[in-house]
Amino acid sequence: MLSWEQLIKDCSDCNRCNLGRTRSNIVIERGSRNAPLMFVGEGPGEQEDLQGKPFVGPAGKLLDLLLDALMFKKDEYYIANIVKCRPPGNRVPLDEEAEKCLPFLRNQVLLVKPQIIVCLGSTAMKYIIDRDARITKIRGQWIERKGFWIMPTFHPAALLRDESKKVLMWEDIKKVKNKLESLCQNRKI
Ligand code: URA
Repeated sequence: MLSWEQLIKDCSDCNRCNLGRTRSNIVIERGSRNAPLMFVGEGPGEQEDLQGKPFVGPAGKLLDLLLDALMFKKDEYYIANIVKCRPPGNRVPLDEEAEKCLPFLRNQVLLVKPQIIVCLGSTAMKYIIDRDARITKIRGQWIERKGFWIMPTFHPAALLRDESKKVLMWEDIKKVKNKLESLCQNRKI
């Protein structure tokens, strides 16, 4: 396992796949490194690429609104992505790009040690839970694996395209809030 310092350096120097050639900035993390809760998205978009932070564009603003509305504290969560460089035109990352980048995410999980991982959308679900699952089928259901509570839900960008998903994602993230509170009460956090 790499230290934070070495991980950031290795990510910044990374040219394991072609995405490194077109990035403006590597996008590694935002939030608290001591958080009990980790959100994982797909990969940086235009704003994230420009600012070097995950979920700072329109989808990120919606995610922040949701987290604020449910009164998550800033030090309770950490945000990362499956791939750390922007896929051109915001296309879905290729399997080989995701596979080359996943060791960095695994290292982040080992360092943060979250109790809960939320998969935002089907790309995160695919690489963290099950390659063949469908987000519309498994969203909102807890999966307990390797000592983590994992919650698949929609990607916030999907809510921008389809308003009817808002209430469902709200319900999923409310479950996350409740789980976090019950884990805290049991003094596991
Ligand atoms: N979409 C993602 O999946 N991740 C980001 O960081 C931004 C948009």
